[in-house]
Amino acid sequence: MTDKPPVLVIGPLPQRDLDAMARRFTVLPYFAATDKAAYLAEHGASVRAVSTRGETGINAEQLAALPNLGIVACYAVGTDMVDLAACRARNIPVTNTAGVLTDEVADMALALLLAAFRQIPAADAWVRSGTWAAQGAMPLQRRMYGKRLGIVGLGEIGRAVARRAEGFAMPIAYSGRSKQAVPYAYYPNPLAMAPHVDALVVCAAGGPATRNLVSAAVIAALPKGAVLVNVARGTVVEEAAVIEALRSGHLGAAGLDVFLNEPAIDPVFATFPNVVLQPHAASATYETRGAMGDLMLANMEAWLDGRPLLTPVA
Ligand code: GLV
Repeated sequence: MTDKPPVLVIGPLPQRDLDAMARRFTVLPYFAATDKAAYLAEHGASVRAVSTRGETGINAEQLAALPNLGIVACYAVGTDMVDLAACRARNIPVTNTAGVLTDEVADMALALLLAAFRQIPAADAWVRSGTWAAQGAMPLQRRMYGKRLGIVGLGEIGRAVARRAEGFAMPIAYSGRSKQAVPYAYYPNPLAMAPHVDALVVCAAGGPATRNLVSAAVIAALPKGAVLVNVARGTVVEEAAVIEALRSGHLGAAGLDVFLNEPAIDPVFATFPNVVLQPHAASATYETRGAMGDLMLANMEAWLDGRPLLTPVA
């Protein structure tokens, strides 16, 4: 017998976080179970806490199998895959890792912007393949600094992207639900902003409210040759329209960290030499993932000890 409350670990975690969790919780590695339904049926009634990732979340059916659940702790800032309404209806608090990954994700947005404008992966391939030696210099690429940047969603991450882009002398515009006290041009929606930017960085939270926010119409309204970067969620952009615009050349380049159907993404993306791909890795550094693991566990321990949660999701 143990007095450590059982935690259902839905998304795989680094061993360091599982070890840390095991000091105060009984770790139930659901992520490793081959028969998930049987695992839930066996352990569901005992589960007091859930740890999950952004990609895995927790759905209504899983929640229904956990009658004694007291908290859902996410190893992510985005909780769009968590059935928040079902949690709310049962007064189950949900926590995320807001704050500790902001700058890391913003760094990735800038890396993707630079890589896309300057075609860094294609240039790397030019050197590695011997094309440089055989054919000479690569075609010229486009400058990034000074280009007009549009940010879809000026939350913490969007603002961190804007701060970095200021260093590249990029005039900044943003779209969002409300105008903020910032020195950037405001547009109420991405469609109004699109004609006025050379690059669009998508930072809006995922979920039903933002599904296809960057629609085919928004992409069509961008100037020809514009660059698209997405560090938010695949659902926020109309992916078929992105693919079509890459095929037609309307989009000049893209840098994508997130997709529909991760990790089995549409294979067409790998055929575009002007698209820089990332495996949903914007926060994936030792430093930030460590901080995310610590914050997730601090929330779980606060719950266990009856202290206020550090980063509850409203
Ligand atoms: C990652 O995508 C996150 O939501 O933290």
